[in-house]
Amino acid sequence: MSDEKKCLTRTFLSPAMGRANRVAGAWMQEAGLDVREDAFGNLIGRVEADRQGAKTLILGSHLDTVRDAGIYDGALGVLLPVVVLRRLRRRGVRLPFAIEVVGFSEEEGVRFSSAYLGSKGYAGGLRAADLGLRDENGMTLGECLRQRNGRRGKWKPPGRAHSPRGLLGYLEVHIEQGPVLEERDLSCGVVSGIAGQTRAKIEFLGRAGHAGTTPMALRRDALAGAAEFVLAAEALARRRSPLVATVGRLAVRPGATNVIAGGAELSLDIRHPRDLRRREALRILRSKAGRIARRRGLKVSFQVTQDNPSVACSPELTALLVKSVRARQGRSLLLPSGAGHDAVVLSTLTRVAMLFVRCRGGVSHHPAEHVGLDDLAASIEIVEDFLIRLANRRLE
Ligand code: GLV
Ligand code: MN
Ligand code: MN
Repeated sequence: MSDEKKCLTRTFLSPAMGRANRVAGAWMQEAGLDVREDAFGNLIGRVEADRQGAKTLILGSHLDTVRDAGIYDGALGVLLPVVVLRRLRRRGVRLPFAIEVVGFSEEEGVRFSSAYLGSKGYAGGLRAADLGLRDENGMTLGECLRQRNGRRGKWKPPGRAHSPRGLLGYLEVHIEQGPVLEERDLSCGVVSGIAGQTRAKIEFLGRAGHAGTTPMALRRDALAGAAEFVLAAEALARRRSPLVATVGRLAVRPGATNVIAGGAELSLDIRHPRDLRRREALRILRSKAGRIARRRGLKVSFQVTQDNPSVACSPELTALLVKSVRARQGRSLLLPSGAGHDAVVLSTLTRVAMLFVRCRGGVSHHPAEHVGLDDLAASIEIVEDFLIRLANRRLE
């Protein structure tokens, strides 16, 4: 199910997302879950507890993808809990807490250059600035949600799906998207925390002109300014490891071989496990963009579209997960996540834990993403064991 014919791409509220929700929703129903979609296109499957008034454990990840994606990033964390619940149902195991499996509708930030829109909606965290974000067609997120929810006038996002008091926590299973588990010969590892992340949209404006007749000294070439900025971001991150900085998108106007670029818009994504270091890098790059623009006679705008602090995983849930991992594979490994996950936003609602599953070569955000069957089996058994441990602990 893809928005594009030749590769896997599913973006927020696209027809392919609708189809993915219907297929995953049918699998959830088969496993005994009650299924619905919320106002943000999140797919939610729920199994009630064996007693009234019990708290809810949320399990999930996202069903949207990057462009030209692999099949595991996100989808694994939605479908694996469904498999686990089906196994438990077959064995007649009832849990003393309710379970909600959520397929978040937006995590990758492809459509609006800002990530976590699905989980933010679910957690009651969408702000006016989010609703004003525009996609490539100029449509705002607010308009898009109004259209989906059949409202003409003002539309306000509904509040959070749960009060924190009613929640036990959130567990997300995800491919590692890096090489550490493979290097250590482990199927699974436990996440200690998630790096903070800032995304920005930067636009250099110059003057379009004739490529043959405009002397070099008289040019105001927006693309040359943008190129200088790309290299400055790369150089800064190389000097300041573990800072990472990426410009993954560049749109040039008017975009013709024989026309000097009048406009260049680029995306910036920077991450660091320490928030102070990330903010410092953002300040440096913002002022660098200003200096480049002044020197080249360009204008520049710098809009931060996303800013998430780093998140520490819950010590209690993590300790329990470590026990389940040890029980299955003999040893466990705690590792930080450089990638962003829905757990970042869920941490504003409840405590979070994450299980990483080895992926071949650490390759991700690429169609070659792959998880071996043995590793899938291990992760299913680990999550099942975790639920049983949590159930026994709650019953003690
Ligand atoms: C999500 O995959 C991200 O870390 O960008
Ligand atoms: Mn991803
Ligand atoms: Mn992901």
